[in-house]
Amino acid sequence: MATNVRIFDTTLRDGEQSPGFTMNTEEKLEVARALAAMRVDVIEAGFPISSPGDLEGVQLVAREIRGPIIAALARANRQDVDAAAEGIRRAERARIHVFIATSPIHMEHKLQMTPDQVYDASVDAVRYARTFTDDVEFSAEDGSRSDPEFLCRVFDGVIRAGATTINVPDTVGYATPEEYANLLRLLRERVPGSERVIWSAHCHDDLGLAVANSLAAVQAGVRQIECTINGIGERAGNAALEEIVMALHTRRNHYGIETGIDTTKIYRTSRLISAISGVPVQPNKAVVGDNAFAHEAGIHQHGVLMNRATYEIMTPETVGIPSNKLVLGKHSGRHAIKKHLEDNGVRLTQDELQRVFQEFKALCDKKKQVTIEDVLSLVEAELRTAPQTFALRAFHVSTSSTLPPMASVTLVRGQELFTQEASGDGPVDAIYNAINAIVGLTPTLADYAIKAITGGTDAMGEATVKVRDGDGLFVGRGTSTDVLEASARAYLVAVNKIIYERQHWMSNIYG
Ligand code: KIV
Ligand code: ZN
Repeated sequence: MATNVRIFDTTLRDGEQSPGFTMNTEEKLEVARALAAMRVDVIEAGFPISSPGDLEGVQLVAREIRGPIIAALARANRQDVDAAAEGIRRAERARIHVFIATSPIHMEHKLQMTPDQVYDASVDAVRYARTFTDDVEFSAEDGSRSDPEFLCRVFDGVIRAGATTINVPDTVGYATPEEYANLLRLLRERVPGSERVIWSAHCHDDLGLAVANSLAAVQAGVRQIECTINGIGERAGNAALEEIVMALHTRRNHYGIETGIDTTKIYRTSRLISAISGVPVQPNKAVVGDNAFAHEAGIHQHGVLMNRATYEIMTPETVGIPSNKLVLGKHSGRHAIKKHLEDNGVRLTQDELQRVFQEFKALCDKKKQVTIEDVLSLVEAELRTAPQTFALRAFHVSTSSTLPPMASVTLVRGQELFTQEASGDGPVDAIYNAINAIVGLTPTLADYAIKAITGGTDAMGEATVKVRDGDGLFVGRGTSTDVLEASARAYLVAVNKIIYERQHWMSNIYG
């Protein structure tokens, strides 16, 4: 039996589907690039029938990404399969992922279909999907709460219709590891043609068991795991990719199973998802949380100093956590910055490097000690702000305990300068009102957070804002040693995204 397990990443589909995690098409492509660099086996890029934006995102990923299989989701009907096929048409390696619910409660109350109708729809959709690609996955939604006899019948039918991967989702996160593994063993034993397909696990985390269930499934013979970065996803989320990969890597003596993942790209990809979504990673999150490798208790620190293995079962370097000990300064040249960024998995073009280097030099004038974390956040701020219709040129804020705060903001668009003054409930509000007056938009501020990236009173502040414009939620991040400037920059990133999105849709409609 194969000793490799495929990592099927569904951050762009099951992860993106959850509230607060929506991404625009460029952001999806950026995530897909990071996933490909990490060497995931399959990228589920979206659910094309669900919206024109989703179809466009899948098409872009299919066109641009080489290496991983690109999958598109479809319900078990021909219209959905057509949309999925359209999405993955230009992929180097394309998969259509057909699903339908098989549990009694879902069939009766959600689908209002009989088991025979579900069987027929499954077989027909898989047979139809095979006319577009040789790689067809079938998922029995709510599989863990389905009747195993019925599952055997449906899986037998879809394998004969051409399914090559069979997925048994624990859609509502209800299974326990023993139950889930037993179900998979039973299915693998009983379903005719079982040895011809790859069995797959897809677990949700409602009881905090998604990773444990996925690992139990591997022990029961599953050779594909579906998961998301940072465990993002519906409700409590999906199984976390980083936890599964590092469990298999760190405990390979126990599992005897390999993944093809470049583990040194894990941390950066986790941060990218957090930056794009504006949803922070909890500090005590396994593998990628800020505290995952921090040793606070004196006795632990002592042990780690004597020998890291006393309290560290894996090293931060293995998952690509940059070393904060590295201090850069005024005298660090462009080559040094390039090299340190490359060591952290970041490759820049000459032009990008030049822009980041200029920001780095400006930061050295404001901050005594610049760390690689600071430089990485400059990279993000500098490269992730595009498309930038308006840029911040200058601002002035006056605030006191007796008068309302006033802000004057100057923005630049191309060669043109725009200045506006405004008051507000606080200095940040005043800045945002001045920006709104210039750009002619009044989005609603849905969330605002500020944090220090590194220690010290001259630490870089990072502001994250989420603004709502109609149905869309737009995230912006900005960094600066001045928190008001960071706040202004973050807001402008979000506002520029709104402008871009509006222009983009207008040009799609009017050509
Ligand atoms: O959780 C689930 O059942 C799913 C399927 C569509 C695979 O996400
Ligand atoms: Zn799911």
